[in-house]
Amino acid sequence: MNRNYILHRILHWCIGFVILFILLTVFLRLNWMNKDIMAGILSRDLSALGIQITYDDAVKIAKDIRRPMWNTHIYAGYILTGLFVFKMILVLIKGASFDSPFCSGNSRRKKFQSWVYVFFYFFLGVSLATGLLIEMGPANWKAGLEAIHSLSLYYVIPFLALHFFGILFSRIRKEREASE
Ligand code: HEM
Ligand code: HEM
Repeated sequence: MNRNYILHRILHWCIGFVILFILLTVFLRLNWMNKDIMAGILSRDLSALGIQITYDDAVKIAKDIRRPMWNTHIYAGYILTGLFVFKMILVLIKGASFDSPFCSGNSRRKKFQSWVYVFFYFFLGVSLATGLLIEMGPANWKAGLEAIHSLSLYYVIPFLALHFFGILFSRIRKEREASE
């Protein structure tokens, strides 16, 4: 096992950064650049100028404004797919960057941490596969794939919360052990 292997470290930061970027695009799509919110502003401001447009036209314009931002979600998705494939090849060649969850010598906490990473990579694979299939797969699969793909937030956000609190608590524990 090569936990400190430099490529694992570099990949960790690249994967982490791209995932945070993808989350930013989703946040923008669901909030500031939400098509219904933007369509409402467009209709209101144009009607103040004496120009009436239908709601459908307002949504179409809103989607056109959002498109360049949203395209970066898809580009980042392709980059993440490349990083994911690279990570899996590295795991096959150099070993994983964390212990197997079945490693008998490890504490329950360590095993739990390993399971969290295993599930994270599994669900990440599902997000990438469904994202790619929405883009390149058959049109009649789109609705079903979108429903599955949109659930991605339900594992990414809890993972990040667990990851950051885990890192924080392990730092606090190590400092306490060092001062004893
Ligand atoms: C302040 C930012 C971060 C710090 C300090 C950090 C730190 C760490 C550390 C120390 C480990 C190794 C744990 C161990 O050896 O048991 C790790 C592993 C991991 N981190 Fe992070 N991390 C950060 C951000 C992220 C982000 C944004 C993601 C992605 C959503 C992420 C995903 C992972 C994954 C999947 C692992 C499992 C091992 C691997 O793939 O290398 N991390 N992180
Ligand atoms: C970590 C990986 C990913 C995460 C967390 C993620 C997350 C999401 C979420 C939450 C949505 C739904 C947004 C909404 O409710 O309006 C979405 C939509 C979408 N994603 Fe991703 N995504 C990821 C990777 C990808 C990849 C690899 C691709 C393709 C290359 C992709 C393409 C799309 C497309 C085309 C949509 C729009 C679906 C629609 O029109 O409803 N995503 N993504």
